[in-house]
Amino acid sequence: MTAKDPSFETPLDRDRIRAWLREEDALRLEVLWRAADDARRLHVGDEVHLRGLVEISNHCRRQCAYCGIRAGNRGIERYRMTRDEILACAREAMSLGFGTVVLQAGEDPGLGSEWVADLVRTIKSETSLSITLSLGERTTDELRAWKRAGADRYLLRFETSDPSLFHRIHPSLPNALSDRMAQLRALRDLGYEIGSGVMVGIPGQTWDSLVQDILTFKALDLDMIGVGPFLPHPDTPLGGATEDGGEDQVPATEDVVYRVLALARLVCPEANIPSTTALAAINKKHGRQLGLLRGANVVMPNLTPSTYRFKYAIYPDKACVNETVLVGPSVIAEQIEALGRRVGRGEGGRRRRGPAGNG
Ligand code: 5AD
Repeated sequence: MTAKDPSFETPLDRDRIRAWLREEDALRLEVLWRAADDARRLHVGDEVHLRGLVEISNHCRRQCAYCGIRAGNRGIERYRMTRDEILACAREAMSLGFGTVVLQAGEDPGLGSEWVADLVRTIKSETSLSITLSLGERTTDELRAWKRAGADRYLLRFETSDPSLFHRIHPSLPNALSDRMAQLRALRDLGYEIGSGVMVGIPGQTWDSLVQDILTFKALDLDMIGVGPFLPHPDTPLGGATEDGGEDQVPATEDVVYRVLALARLVCPEANIPSTTALAAINKKHGRQLGLLRGANVVMPNLTPSTYRFKYAIYPDKACVNETVLVGPSVIAEQIEALGRRVGRGEGGRRRRGPAGNG
């Protein structure tokens, strides 16, 4: 086996993506890991960017069948952080040397347009952080106001490219058909860097749809791609199910997630790709590092105050829940250095190369 495996010299088409997704042979897979790691080094380098994640509210108006903070789940206590609490987290991200703060929440109408805009403006005036928002499906007017206030990036996973599966697991609000692809395009037009991604192993997800997901990463020219395993949450409609697509069902395994990460790196070589918390949750010992060795170049340490953190239970047993804020980032930095990589400096936005840089 050589570093320049001939199978990566032509673009990855649908058939080759499908074959790699279903590859089980460990030696063959080494070729995939090597290609993804080479592409990662060539296009985004050895820096691993840290983004401080702050889960600012677990209120949600949605009824997503997979998600623990869905509106229908009466078993969790709801919270919304105050402006001062969020600003304290942003300052902490600064003092830890991070370049970005990610403000994430359920789809919470209580996070009003002007309130969020003011928060963004304040963080921008007090820190040099990049701001990533991940606040669900919002109106174009809101997204525009937040961009004008200084927001840099927006995360909205499309979860699956299969429209019928998406609508089954993600019911629309009355009189408003959910269209995340349209929102991603609107975000791009407004000047945001855009991030999206999928869960792997959603009950009813087929291999063909997963191939299409990867082709969709490319079609959307994503700046950021987040991929993690589906983790059943007992207090949700999908809490008992793990598979229902028969022979074509994608399993929610760590192995398949690594293959999707590696293929995402190969189809979108310049993207920022996190080694996700959900991956670290299914393999606590090695998940984060294996993600970084197989295409990822970003880690998102959780900076949510511990009183709120366990209430943001989108899936059970989030790996970060037991990591204290102080230990978390330094342990993560050690893990990064142990791989011969280094913690990124600066904002860590997408670096676009000219056509000549694609080689
Ligand atoms: N298992 C795995 N990932 C989940 N998410 C939400 N619920 C779950 C779950 N049960 C992911 C979704 C969402 C992101 C914030 O978290 O992909 O977009």
